[in-house]
Amino acid sequence: MNAKDYKQTVDRALETYFHAEDFPFAGLAESMRYSLLAGGKRIRPTLVLEFCRVAGGDPEAALPVACAVEMLHTYSLIHDDLPCMDNDDLRRGRPTNHKVYGECTATLAGDCLQAEAFGTILRCSLPADRRAACAEILAGAAGLDGICGGQYLDMAWEGRTLSHDELNDINNRKTGALLIAACQMGVAAAGGSEEQMEAAGFYASAVGLAFQIRDDMLDVLSTEQELGKPIGSDAQEQKNTFMALYGEEKCAAMVAKLTERAKAVLKTGFDDTDFLCALADSMAVRRS
Ligand code: IPE
Ligand code: IPE
Ligand code: MG
Ligand code: MG
Ligand code: MG
Repeated sequence: MNAKDYKQTVDRALETYFHAEDFPFAGLAESMRYSLLAGGKRIRPTLVLEFCRVAGGDPEAALPVACAVEMLHTYSLIHDDLPCMDNDDLRRGRPTNHKVYGECTATLAGDCLQAEAFGTILRCSLPADRRAACAEILAGAAGLDGICGGQYLDMAWEGRTLSHDELNDINNRKTGALLIAACQMGVAAAGGSEEQMEAAGFYASAVGLAFQIRDDMLDVLSTEQELGKPIGSDAQEQKNTFMALYGEEKCAAMVAKLTERAKAVLKTGFDDTDFLCALADSMAVRRS
């Protein structure tokens, strides 16, 4: 599998999941596929596949793990957009899941994508110890120390000014944790070393923070058409964002610094880092 083809390979693999036309719950499967196949940059699955490759594994064998992280990510987006959370109408250039299928089905679609993510890992053809390691890593990134904990804090601390550490805490959980998990699942799928696991974690935590800072910047600076999400949603929801706390110039400097740090730490665990360095650079200046 060529690194350039990762996105296409993942898109093609995701297309094979959740065909349930003949069942009474066809509407649920349809809503899951609606969000899962709506596009998206596929950054997390790309990280799984490339970290697997640089850790000496076969990216083909890690493809279900890559699909699983995208399922879990898509669940988090569906729930993040619900009226009780960010209350957004547009995602990946389409009306949000609940706008099309209603809040109940959207909630279930998210729940189901999360469960299926773990099932997809646990059923794949990797050796059992590697499957278990991947599932454990993903569970850590999804729970209290990850997305759910971060999303809770994001909501609970709305409307008051946060310290730098508090804002970092939210973002490390809600966004950083899954990016770290993607990189480390790639290493785990390859049966990589402790040193590689650690280097993957350092890279992803720097990239993860830069990723959310850039996301906060784009909520102000991009266009709805380019981003595929509403603009100004954070201010409207009184969210604590890096843009609100630091402004554009400081945010851009933080992203640049974190990206350089990410690229430097990679070298401590891996030799062939060109693609991952280029990926970090492209994420730092992304427009969508
Ligand atoms: C958006 O993630 C949510 C955040 C964690 C900031 P992405 O920017 O990766 O969204 P898609 O997958 O490309 O739609
Ligand atoms: C959400 O952060 C992170 C998730 C866990 C989904 P945001 O709320 O800023 O993500 P977007 O901007 O809606 O994609
Ligand atoms: Mg949110
Ligand atoms: Mg949101
Ligand atoms: Mg955002």
